[in-house]
Amino acid sequence: HTSKLWGGRFASGPAEAMAALSLSTHFDWRLARYDIAGSRAHARVLHRAGLLSEDELTAMLAALDKLESDVDSGAFTPVPADEDVHTALERGLIERAGPALGGKLRAGRSRNDQVATLFRMWLRDAARQVAAGVLDVVDSLVSQAKAHPDAVMPGRTHLQHAQPVLLAHHLLAHAQSLLRDVDRLRDWDARAALSPYGSGALAGSSLGLDPAAVAAELGFDGPVENSIDGTASRDFAAEIAFVLAMLGVNLSRIAEEVILWNTAEFGYVTLDDAWATGSSIMPQKKNPDVAELTRGKSGRLIGNLTGLLATLKAQPLAYNRDLQEDKEPLFDSVEQLSLVLPAVAGMLGSMTVHTSRLAELAPAGFTLATDIAEWLVRQGIPFREAHEAAGECVRLAEARGVGLDELTDQELAGAHSALGPEVRSVLTVTGSVASRDAYGGTAPVRVAEQLGRLESRVTDA
Ligand code: ARG
Repeated sequence: HTSKLWGGRFASGPAEAMAALSLSTHFDWRLARYDIAGSRAHARVLHRAGLLSEDELTAMLAALDKLESDVDSGAFTPVPADEDVHTALERGLIERAGPALGGKLRAGRSRNDQVATLFRMWLRDAARQVAAGVLDVVDSLVSQAKAHPDAVMPGRTHLQHAQPVLLAHHLLAHAQSLLRDVDRLRDWDARAALSPYGSGALAGSSLGLDPAAVAAELGFDGPVENSIDGTASRDFAAEIAFVLAMLGVNLSRIAEEVILWNTAEFGYVTLDDAWATGSSIMPQKKNPDVAELTRGKSGRLIGNLTGLLATLKAQPLAYNRDLQEDKEPLFDSVEQLSLVLPAVAGMLGSMTVHTSRLAELAPAGFTLATDIAEWLVRQGIPFREAHEAAGECVRLAEARGVGLDELTDQELAGAHSALGPEVRSVLTVTGSVASRDAYGGTAPVRVAEQLGRLESRVTDA
């Protein structure tokens, strides 16, 4: 058991099942690059504290460089006796620097502060990659919005036809929520940007090491305030797990709409062949698998969040081995999103939108009824009364199987004495859409402004 980090007081090595349970290299190996970066920074503060000579520091850094290139090339990999990534890399260092020098690096640090730091580093890089992937999805939504600036569609509430809206307005609604996810990732980073290195096992270090220097070298804004908190807290992991789950849910809502839009009944869009799949038995099928997998994986992202929260609940301070369970859910959420985001961007950017179908459906289901009521309000009629009259128009039109614009002058006047034939000026989809011209509304002029602001947020992001 000499390769273990903690062999001294043990008479025997671990039982096989103990070691199997304990092992984490199959997932935490992806922290290797960050562990080596942490080791370099740690070597420098040991040197500054007088615990490594100039020559020892030089030799230590050279051995770490060699170790890193061997990790990169695959020449150095963990073996089953290495409990975790930290143990494996210490073995690798000792093999390269010799036990006299290699054995010095562990002074003043613990795997508890190491892993808390490396996990933050990994997540901060992952957050930036996820944000870039989200911006690509936003780009696809924006390009579809720009390609169809005048397209109208039935806006829905309760999935029922409600009021006509611009397709661009609807697409940008999704873009807005995705940009908030990008904002959330950035806001999260500001809190996660503190380094636990130097917290030691939980109480800090007695060796005169400078946590601020390590933090700066590793790209953090500074060291954590409290060594117990530094090693025990994982709210940084739970918080980003939420942001990723929220992103998954936002993507799932887009996906659900694409699935509906792609049906024969809706007929709003046709998916590009490259972003759809066929059926092994039904030759005619073109299935929206990208959207379905996106919708499905959102459940997994939610599970990763709730699983982590359950792991954290009721853990006493400071470090407990339970915390080793923090990494896989986050690695998984990031990995799933790295698969989902480019596929969603590709699917949305390449789908064909059937604007004439959307235009035909836009007024269906009496979506212009509100326009009648609001026209009456502009004539001074109380809304209560106007709503009633517009409802009567719907009843008449429905009974005759005609549109609201096809009601006779007599029928209109019968619904309300103030309802003259001039009301027909608002009974067009384009008139209705153009009239909703307050800030944030669906009028083309407002949507164009919204698009401009949104694009500058994307540029700044
Ligand atoms: N592999 C552990 C983790 O991921 C870090 C090791 C800490 N182990 C310990 N016995 N203190 O959390």
